[in-house]
Order: sequence, then structure tokens, then C-alpha cells
Amino acid sequence: MDALVRLLQLLVFLLTLPLHLMALLGLWEPLCKTYFPYLMAVLAVKSNRVMESKKRELFSQIKGLAGASGKVALLELGSGTGANFQFYPTGCKVTCLDPNPHFEKFLTRSMAENRHLEYERFVVAFGEDMSQLADGSMDVVVSTLVLCSVQSPKRVLQEVRRVLRPGGVLFFWEHVAEPCGSWAFLWQQVLQPTWRHIGDGCHLTRETWRDLEDAQFSELQVEQHPPPIKWLPVGPHIMGKAVK
Ligand SMILES: C[S@@+](CC[C@H](N)C(=O)[O-])C[C@H]1O[C@@H](n2cnc3c(N)ncnc32)[C@H](O)[C@@H]1O
Repeated sequence: MDALVRLLQLLVFLLTLPLHLMALLGLWEPLCKTYFPYLMAVLAVKSNRVMESKKRELFSQIKGLAGASGKVALLELGSGTGANFQFYPTGCKVTCLDPNPHFEKFLTRSMAENRHLEYERFVVAFGEDMSQLADGSMDVVVSTLVLCSVQSPKRVLQEVRRVLRPGGVLFFWEHVAEPCGSWAFLWQQVLQPTWRHIGDGCHLTRETWRDLEDAQFSELQVEQHPPPIKWLPVGPHIMGKAVK
């Protein structure tokens, strides 16, 4: 099986050689960082249409999590285009964090469309180092389709636990690896080296539920759903919450 994966990887590599050469020369990443927000703006609308009721159900739990101020301090990790804002209840004070500043234009548009929320600031940083945010300063952290792209899910989850107050909640919706040994998993392995470049660092074969289990939250609820967009090689999605 391993030999077949390598052979097919080589084939895909050769078919996409210009992309890999550009990546090698450092020319691909700036291009990707610029086009990816446009791609996400389209994909997020499509996936929100399919996931609307599930996201509404998940994020309806935010309401009871207000801190002493009466507001919910909410960190949108890897905020992208702000695709989740429409699902948040009134009374949230949102801090956005994303390493890609090219998302800001889309984020500003989503903020204008969702005036029921208060917006604190847009922090350009990686989730692995959120030192601009104080310990225990967040009632809620939201991560949707982000842990596939970060360099270290483990470090990001450590940071998420640090910025959450005791009893604060991480809500997540992430795509994960297909079952090991399946044909779908084989194709994910074949496409991974190329997909990483197309999808701005996205990993198709991450077992993110293991990182969540290892992250020492006091409570973890996870359920699995099929992917909302069938023609992409991304696998099943996990949705749920982790309580600090
Ligand atoms: C697939 S997009 C998802 C955007 C948004 N959360 C959504 O659901 O539409 C992945 C996002 O994660 C961001 N990202 C990538 N690496 C990151 C990191 N190390 N820390 C935080 N965000 C990161 C990307 O810039 C991008 O906005």
C-alpha cells in the first residue's frame, strides 16, 4: 500500500510540477495567501448553507457563557472571512485572530453585516503564540476549519486553554482523516503534498480528535458529520465543545 501511495504521489507531483517549483522558489506562498481569502469567501457560503442548523445548534450554547461583564468575550481563532458571525448570539464581544492579513477586507465586510455583535480587535498572529491575549481573558474560543492548517495543533490547544477562563468553552468544527486503511484515506495521502500548497497549509490526514483528547480539557464532547462539500478531498468533520 505504501509503495502505491508513493507512486501515485509522484504522479500527482509531476502533474502539478509548476506549483511545486514555485513553492520551492518561495513564489507560491505569497500568491496563496492572496487568493485563499477569495476561495474561502466562496466555500464558506456553500458550507454554511449545508451546516446552518448544526452551527446554530452548536453556537446557541454561547448564550449562557457570559462573564462578569455580562458580555461573552469570544475569540475567533483563524477567523478567516468571519463566516461564523451570523450564528453568534447578541452580547458577544469578538476578538479575531488570523496570521493572514489579507482576510481583513472580508472580515470587515462580515462585521458590517453582523451589527448585533461587538468587535474588539483583529490580531494578526499565529494560534501557536497568542501572547497578545491575556491568560483567562476569554469566555469562549471558536475554531472552525483551523486545526487542519496550523503548524502545531498541540501548541494551539495549549494556548486556547491558557486564554480561556476556568469553565470557558472551546467550540470546534474541524475536518479530519478518513478511516485508516480506506481508499478515501489512501487518496488523502496521495493528494496531501500537493493539497498542502493549494489549501494554504491544510492537512487532510490529521487525527485532530486525538489532539483534543490529549489537551486536558475537563470535558470533551465530539460528534462526527459528513463533509459539507462532497467534491473536495477533505474527510469527515468533527463538531463539539471542550470545557476548560
Ligand atoms: C480554512 S480557513 C477557515 C476560516 C474560518 N475559520 C472558517 O471557518 O471559514 C483556515 C484559517 O486558519 C488560518 N490559520 C492558518 N494557520 C493558522 C495558525 N497557525 N493560527 C491561527 N490561524 C491559522 C488561515 O489563515 C485561515 O483563515
